[in-house]
Amino acid sequence: MAAGVGLRDTQACITPKFYQIMPCRSKIRHNILWLVARLWRIVRPLAAHCTIFSVRYPSVIAIDGPVASGKTTVGRALARRLGYAFVDTGVYYRAVTVAALDASTPLDDEAALTRLADGLEVRLGDEGTSVSIRGVDITSRLRTPEVDAAVSAVAKVGGVRRAMVAQQRATAKGGDVIMVGRDIGTIVLPNAAKVYLDASPEERTRRRFRELAGTDQARSRAEVLENIEMRDAIDAGRTDSPLRIAEDARRIVTDGLDVEAVVDVVLAVLGTEEGE
Ligand code: CDP
Repeated sequence: MAAGVGLRDTQACITPKFYQIMPCRSKIRHNILWLVARLWRIVRPLAAHCTIFSVRYPSVIAIDGPVASGKTTVGRALARRLGYAFVDTGVYYRAVTVAALDASTPLDDEAALTRLADGLEVRLGDEGTSVSIRGVDITSRLRTPEVDAAVSAVAKVGGVRRAMVAQQRATAKGGDVIMVGRDIGTIVLPNAAKVYLDASPEERTRRRFRELAGTDQARSRAEVLENIEMRDAIDAGRTDSPLRIAEDARRIVTDGLDVEAVVDVVLAVLGTEEGE
């Protein structure tokens, strides 16, 4: 069959957009395109009735909150639903802590910690599930008791924060991103849409205890609670970028809600009806 016939037929039965993407040169391709166009015509109106398609969401979403408030789990699920990238900024401070422990840098030596952070590139791989520094994967070391005990002391150093915030902003530059942490709405991405996830210390202890149980990081409930209270106090009490609720953030208390329910609430809070 002459190519011209295929082209003309295709033009007659499909949208110009499909035609541009895949110019038709054979009968088979022509038929595939025709089928795709027909299916799209059926799917498009149906899709318009689904909430996820008819509601617009901000391109940059900041989720802040205290230790174990569910930011990471909720942020990940939300990113999956919206097709956004997910960035957990806690891993940046955990990565600097791993490097500091390896180098035996005293945790009260602010100048040495700043120098260390300045020269450290934190690389996120596998959609944020793996982390490496200096070409070495350190994912399995990020949540050890040693790092849990030291990370808030490292994260309160102003120089460390400046170095990590610069890397985090560069990561969020492309948009369509959900970034979670302590100061994302207040410092890192002040123009983002903001959510503050909260939960009682008892609920957060329950969640973190369950999360660690059965892993090689398992701890007693009392130890989990102690670490949560200690980190909360340092994070909220530090002078540089303390944990606080941004004025324009929506606070969501998540006690008793499962992950999917929290994701639904966040979507409801952030979504704008198309055309609004
Ligand atoms: O997951 P979890 O809530 O236990 O903590 P994380 O998000 O992994 O963060 C670990 C620590 O890094 C926090 O306790 C903070 O001290 C610090 N951090 C911070 O200061 N700023 C951020 N944007 C994220 C984490």
